[in-house]
Amino acid sequence: MNVSGLAAVVTGGGSGLGAATVQSLREQGMQVAALDVNQQAIKDIEDQTGALGLLCDVTDEESVSAALASARERHGVARVLVNCAGIAPPQRIVGREGASPLADFKRVIDINLVGTYNMMRLFAEALIPAEVLDDDGERGVIVNTASVAAYDGQIGQAAYSASKGGIVALNLVAAREFASFGIRTMAIAPGLMGTPLLLGLPEEAQQSLAGQVPFPKRLGYPAEFASLVTEICRNQLLNGEVIRMDGAIRMAPR
Ligand SMILES: NC(=O)c1ccc[n+]([C@@H]2O[C@H](COP(=O)([O-])OP(=O)(O)OC[C@H]3O[C@@H](n4cnc5c(N)ncnc54)[C@H](O)[C@@H]3O)[C@@H](O)[C@H]2O)c1
Repeated sequence: MNVSGLAAVVTGGGSGLGAATVQSLREQGMQVAALDVNQQAIKDIEDQTGALGLLCDVTDEESVSAALASARERHGVARVLVNCAGIAPPQRIVGREGASPLADFKRVIDINLVGTYNMMRLFAEALIPAEVLDDDGERGVIVNTASVAAYDGQIGQAAYSASKGGIVALNLVAAREFASFGIRTMAIAPGLMGTPLLLGLPEEAQQSLAGQVPFPKRLGYPAEFASLVTEICRNQLLNGEVIRMDGAIRMAPR
């Protein structure tokens, strides 16, 4: 897909991997709507990139419908959806104070997995009636963000790993369902990325984490994630697959 001039929607677009993706897609001539729950982050990304910032909670049906409608009104139907909204609070299944609150587990699943599904279904519903873009019948592409934690979950990542495992499982079935409409579905499973999530850790902890990566021995750059999103948009054969982007790291139990 030649993305120039087309419209995209990026969730979690106010920070980290989402913000880098917004910037990259803007540089390629896309009209981009950046959806986030963080009002200040939305304003900043608008100022920095000229994207349309929209306050949106991906878990909320009405909030997502309203945001997608606003984006469509401004940019036309979106051809690219990149789901980056997510949280990763550490918590043991049974901690020192007993079993973890069930509501905590549900919240992570709700934002990371249900939120991704909510975006996919409403994005695809609007895209299916749109014109095809080329002779192959392509209409658009969805890129979801999983994590290496879907495969090598560490102690304390029960909810997070389960949510990302759900995104991995969702990937092929969505690619199969949407194939007849010319909509591809891909997922990226990043390893350790240098976003506010990890850059907030003490320098020593960051270096220790980076040292676990076989090569390159550093945290990933958000721009490397955005670059893979671009290749996924461009390369039509990329469909129904989860790509690990992790410097060959396999996470230890803790
Ligand atoms: N940073 C890493 O090392 C890493 C590794 C693997 C996977 N990931 C995944 O990549 C994605 C982006 O992570 P990041 O590191 O850029 O994190 P980040 O915290 O920098 O950005 C996440 C953004 O999502 C937004 N968000 C949270 N809940 C939301 C909701 N309900 N609705 C809309 N927006 C919401 C936040 O406000 C924030 O701006 C996440 O899904 C994360 O799990 C990150």
